[in-house]
Amino acid sequence: RLRSVVRGCGSYLPPRVVTNAELAGLVDTSDEWIVQRTGISQRHIAADDETTSVLGLRAAQAALADAGLEASDIDLVICATSTPDFTFPATATQIQAGLGITHGVAFDLQAVCSGFVFGVTTADKFLTSGSHKRALVVGAETFSRLLDWEDRTTCVLFGDGAGAIVLEAQEQPGEASDRGVLTTHIRSDGRHRQKLYVDGGPGSTKTVGHLRMEGKEVFRHAVGMITDVIEDAFAATGTSADDLTWFVPHQANRRIINASADKLGIARDKVVVTVDQHGNTSAASIPLALAAARADGRIQQGDLVMIEAMGGGFTWGSALIRW
Ligand code: ACO
Repeated sequence: RLRSVVRGCGSYLPPRVVTNAELAGLVDTSDEWIVQRTGISQRHIAADDETTSVLGLRAAQAALADAGLEASDIDLVICATSTPDFTFPATATQIQAGLGITHGVAFDLQAVCSGFVFGVTTADKFLTSGSHKRALVVGAETFSRLLDWEDRTTCVLFGDGAGAIVLEAQEQPGEASDRGVLTTHIRSDGRHRQKLYVDGGPGSTKTVGHLRMEGKEVFRHAVGMITDVIEDAFAATGTSADDLTWFVPHQANRRIINASADKLGIARDKVVVTVDQHGNTSAASIPLALAAARADGRIQQGDLVMIEAMGGGFTWGSALIRW
């Protein structure tokens, strides 16, 4: 049976690091408050010339190098982002051009923080249908450009960065031990628009706008939505929390991550956490975490890895991958 097998992953972070102490000089906050409420210690912030497509291109190049593949091997580029360089053309086409690819197809996917899980899900449908052979799924964001830097309730939470994964259609035996994406579950519910949104856009204010969030409300919904789609993944594959080698959640907030893992019975030492170093990088957070756990030798071939995310919309989803 045709599966979308992981060939490689990579990431890129803008070099400038902004600590909690530096933010405390900007708004009325403290390192203690931010660490205690979110687990975040620092985040990377892009320079003016480090646009989303620049970050995404560098992550894509790192993923291709990790996979030992050439750009010309890729026939599908999906970029998950809510912070495109331009309203159009799609950031994915800019990454495609930056890689020198002129065949195949490239498009953006917008599901905010769930974008990478939606991207993996979409790529998996293309690859397992046989229509495409190798996909580059990129999560790239510059949320620093959407933040109201005078609003302490949001500006301390987010960071910039990009990550990417290469998936390849491969015949697998069709057994539980198959490598690749084993199951995906994505959901959305547009009724929650006002709880997490950007108050601008061409159709409203004709400005880019700022991120607005009812933090407590988002928190209240997050854990239930996350556990639902993970339980769907367990049910679809006959697996359980004990079978997971790694849990790589969207990195929004340490408390949400811990509460989700605890509710699902996933041991804390299986949870990959990067939110302390990166803040919430929206669609980039999962591939950034995957790349970190690959680079330090935690994720190995054959490992069972659960990714999940929840974000604006609301959107939410999970994907279970045997590496
Ligand atoms: N520094 C100091 N004080 C602050 C700050 C800050 N940066 N921000 C808020 N406060 C104050 C508030 O004004 C409030 O003061 P008050 O009691 O005098 O009114 C107090 O701290 C408590 O604020 P709460 O909002 O109740 O704090 P809470 O414990 O809920 O934590 C937080 C806030 C961290 C935003 C939390 O609600 C949360 O993590 N929510 C989920 C947000 C999230 O993860 N969003 C992203 C998910 S989807 C996506 O990734 C796009």
